[in-house]
Amino acid sequence: MEIKTGEPAAGGEIFAGSRFMRACLRKPVDRTPVWFLRQAGRYMQEYRDVRKHHSLVEICKQPELAAEVTITAAEKLGVDAAIIFADLLLPLEPMGLDFEFQAGEGPVVHRPVRTAEDVWALRTDRAADLEYVARAIQKVAAHFRDRLGVIGFCGAPYTLASYMIEGGSSRNYIHTKQMMYRDPTATTAWGSLLDKLVAVLTEYCRLQVQAGADVIQIFDSWVGSLALSDYRQYVFEPTKRLIRAVQQMGVPVIYFGVETAGLLETMAATGADVIGLDWRQPLDEGWRAVGHGRAVQGNLDPITLFAPVEILEQRVREILHAAHGRAGHIFNLGHGIVPGTPVEHVQAVVKMVHEFRIDQ
Ligand code: CP3
Repeated sequence: MEIKTGEPAAGGEIFAGSRFMRACLRKPVDRTPVWFLRQAGRYMQEYRDVRKHHSLVEICKQPELAAEVTITAAEKLGVDAAIIFADLLLPLEPMGLDFEFQAGEGPVVHRPVRTAEDVWALRTDRAADLEYVARAIQKVAAHFRDRLGVIGFCGAPYTLASYMIEGGSSRNYIHTKQMMYRDPTATTAWGSLLDKLVAVLTEYCRLQVQAGADVIQIFDSWVGSLALSDYRQYVFEPTKRLIRAVQQMGVPVIYFGVETAGLLETMAATGADVIGLDWRQPLDEGWRAVGHGRAVQGNLDPITLFAPVEILEQRVREILHAAHGRAGHIFNLGHGIVPGTPVEHVQAVVKMVHEFRIDQ
């Protein structure tokens, strides 16, 4: 695999490339790199100001705005990577499914996918309609050059399938699992749906990589709803295919899920370069399950950002000690920042991570 490493940084050859990219590739770094899931969002006044005048989807579809929101958040926080402002559900539209974000409800898909006929009707030939995300990435990459890592992203096949089938967020995933158990093979609904998603997501990631994304993060946010044997039997193979296809484009892949303690070993077997860990398990245990031959990202509880700074600092240091100075740790949360989070606490975490020395 050919990796884009960029220009040598000021630190000389030994620290060439951005801190974030080096950690993804398990190379030594001068400081642990840090960024946050949902670092651009409603907890930040600058984002709320933009949202007063534009809907979420409008921001996503106007590259100028999406780039501005991405850059503003990364600069305000002083993080080592910028994740492109977009949403997991954007690929549903070119596949033929309309959705909207309803205030307080989250995403709603108007005509959820429930039958084999619904799956056959989904289109896979219009990923190029998502070009607006690539144009936003171009702007962000031109702005940061090699200073920060630029992260493109997409949903994983299971998590996106669950939105398409349930029609929105779900507690028990009953419709999703029903389709999975009833029609699992490539020629029936579930297998065909995942294959179609892999086809569209591969092209979507290609647009993002060609536009300058250094890394692709694949969000399998709801994979923790699956038993290990179901993950193995119905989800692992198409997910692995997507991850391998993106790696073939020459960029590392971060594979992230929530409530994954029982799935980590198998998630690592997809071959992803970095595994995102949630906060329910200490980082060293998670890393052991993933295997030390792979990088990890995580894993502070996002709600700890509401704690007094002394407690926050204890938790941040615990995580850094658990990482043990080993190459290949990217500091992050175990899931996204929520509305109401104090921005100063997020900024304080960046400082704590950057100032941390293992021998202190
Ligand atoms: O800096 C960033 O990370 C922002 C970019 C971003 C958004 N969505 C914008 C957004 C990213 C990386 C996502 C990914 C995403 N979208 C995921 C995976 C990440 C995760 O949390 O597991 C998921 C599951 C979605 C689907 C989604 N989008 C939901 C469930 C919601 C509603 C939840 C809520 O908090 O209301 C959204 C809306 C959304 N996407 C917001 C943002 C900033 C908040 C709503 C808004 O601004 O109107």
